[in-house]
Amino acid sequence: MVGRFIVADGIEGAGKTTQLAFMHEYLEQAGYSVVVTREPGGTTLGEEIRALLLGHRHDGMALTTETLLMFAARAEHLERVIRPALGRGDWVLCDRFTDATYAYQGGGRGLALEQIADLETWVQGHLRPDLTLLFDLSVEVGLARAGKRSAADRFEQEDQAFFERVRATYWERALQNPNRYRIVNANQPIEAVRREVESILAAITL
Ligand code: TMP
Repeated sequence: MVGRFIVADGIEGAGKTTQLAFMHEYLEQAGYSVVVTREPGGTTLGEEIRALLLGHRHDGMALTTETLLMFAARAEHLERVIRPALGRGDWVLCDRFTDATYAYQGGGRGLALEQIADLETWVQGHLRPDLTLLFDLSVEVGLARAGKRSAADRFEQEDQAFFERVRATYWERALQNPNRYRIVNANQPIEAVRREVESILAAITL
């Protein structure tokens, strides 16, 4: 059996982490062996890089530094977790991946998308997710939900215009590659979102 690489992505407060837990359960019940992981992070080194990226010790870090740290964590993650899991035939469920770099560092912060594409090719070769679920919701609702959870990290402290650009970039990418994306309406209550996710999983596990 060939493993599949599935990503959940979207702006803050979309509920993707809750939905990933549901996806994990659904796929295991369907008999698949599943690895659940996240970016930035997913390895010991990657989680340390995550702390550097999200914490406030390095507020104002250069955009190039931020982007390279995202890809450094990703290189480690691919080498130690994602490629071995897919090689074993496991399914990989990843909380964010390179679409987030396009959306946040590209759309949000203004890095040229071609530069991200160059790094993507360098670090990933031909590997791309088989499917990305884009959990889409309004920026107002997303930020209100995220704000209730905990103190704002280095990304959550950005303003509404930043997240509007992030959201627009996710949409552009999804519309350009309709085969690789499913847009999930995350404005709805958790149960309704779960039903949308379930129908997507039912279609790919037939
Ligand atoms: P989260 O996974 O808890 O939502 O937080 C990760 C944060 O990192 C989130 O604000 C998005 C940001 N991020 C990027 O800016 N670029 C990336 O490539 C990735 C994977 C995440």
